[in-house]
Amino acid sequence: MKTNLILIGFMGTGKTTVGRTLARLLDKEFMDTDSEIEKVVGLKIEDIFNRYGEIRFRSEESLVVQKLARRQNQVISTGGGVVLNPENVRALKATGYLVCLQAAPEVIQSRVSRRIRPLLRKDNSLERIKELLKERETSYRGADLYVDTSNCTQEEVVNQIYAWWQQKIKEEIEG
Ligand code: S3P
Repeated sequence: MKTNLILIGFMGTGKTTVGRTLARLLDKEFMDTDSEIEKVVGLKIEDIFNRYGEIRFRSEESLVVQKLARRQNQVISTGGGVVLNPENVRALKATGYLVCLQAAPEVIQSRVSRRIRPLLRKDNSLERIKELLKERETSYRGADLYVDTSNCTQEEVVNQIYAWWQQKIKEEIEG
């Protein structure tokens, strides 16, 4: 039985906040791939990008994914670009169910300005966000559940995923 719930989705869709609350509700361990990378490298995400570049970041990200995929009973929040590597998606799918959080570009823009995102640091225009979303469209396909968070409170998002998860587990148990 798959016991991990994995949150994927573009920057600013609320993966970390929603993930933390869900973990508490479901009595699972909360893990965040970005925080794990920061621990391993000993630097903040933006400093990893600045010092070593995106390629190094992606390689650390894949190592963290492989490590977490071996563990059970976690809610894992991932960085927005984790899906760019099909190996990451394969490993995550094998170990849990994928829930993809979505949001309209305008909503993403207002949310991402609250924290430094290396990929949007130079240009966080609506055009840039739309371009990145388009580039990643196919990579976000194949999740088990999609939740549009644009017009929802975090509590509503959590409740929706929680209800879906309970149903999923019930189905698994009943076979
Ligand atoms: C990234 C998203 C970030 C972080 C890194 C790269 C991306 O995580 O992993 O800056 O490629 O979309 P969040 O989705 O939590 O912002």
